Amino acid sequence: MSLTLRYMQLPDIQQVAAIDKTCFQPPWSRDSYAFEIKESRVSHMVVLDRPVEPPIAPARARQNGWLSNLGEKLRGNGRALNRRGNIIGYGGLWKIEGEAHVSTIATHPDFRGNGYGEILLAGMFGKALRLNAEFIVLEVRVSNAVAQGLYQKYGFSRCGRKRNYYRNNNEDAWDMRVKLDRETRRQFAGLYDDLLDRHELRDAYSWKARPRR
Ligand SMILES: CC(C)(COP(=O)(O)OP(=O)(O)OC[C@H]1O[C@@H](n2cnc3c(N)ncnc32)[C@H](O)[C@@H]1OP(=O)(O)O)[C@@H](O)C(=O)NCCC(=O)NCCS
Repeated sequence: MSLTLRYMQLPDIQQVAAIDKTCFQPPWSRDSYAFEIKESRVSHMVVLDRPVEPPIAPARARQNGWLSNLGEKLRGNGRALNRRGNIIGYGGLWKIEGEAHVSTIATHPDFRGNGYGEILLAGMFGKALRLNAEFIVLEVRVSNAVAQGLYQKYGFSRCGRKRNYYRNNNEDAWDMRVKLDRETRRQFAGLYDDLLDRHELRDAYSWKARPRR
């Protein structure tokens, strides 16, 4: 599947907010996304998208009959897939002084475990390097082993525990960070090359300047 990493745009908000709702409690409001895209001077929002498969032509659908149409829907192809949209995941990075802060990251629940979360994190990592950050930092729920595994793969380590950080259930957060020193950059270059070998990926985010609004 060919994939594109690119800056998030206003028309993406509907799909992004739909994914957010399935991932986070509470989700961000649509206005928050609009602010990050249009107003914030420190924010670099990213989406991972794929080409949408064309819907089945009406004539062909009639020819195949309702049974084949149902088959397409059950397999998740054709129109059923189109309804899910083309955005597979998204993320956000704030660059404030020497620190780049991962504000959010999520993969659509139907697409997890395929390396797409890693592509998003790698895209933000590359963006932090381009912006000359010294560290990348983030918070993660102590119960979120999957996300922690992803961050550890990219060299993040736990550097503190924030008590009752999450308002919905008072769960603690791990404060995680990675220093962007020479060795981390070297390891990142290897991981990024490996991602490009595994995926048909066009990166129009990490090395591009933020579009003017
Ligand atoms: C965290 C999240 C973005 C990972 O995305 P993903 O597309 O499923 O992850 P990937 O397939 O790219 O996997 C990347 C790494 O994550 C870890 N990982 C992924 N699935 C895992 C699982 N089921 N169990 C343990 N670790 C897992 C591994 O370290 C994996 O690297 P590997 O493939 O070399 O083992 C995704 O699970 C998600 O959207 N979760 C809900 C939102 C969320 O929790 N965001 C993080 C907020 S801090």
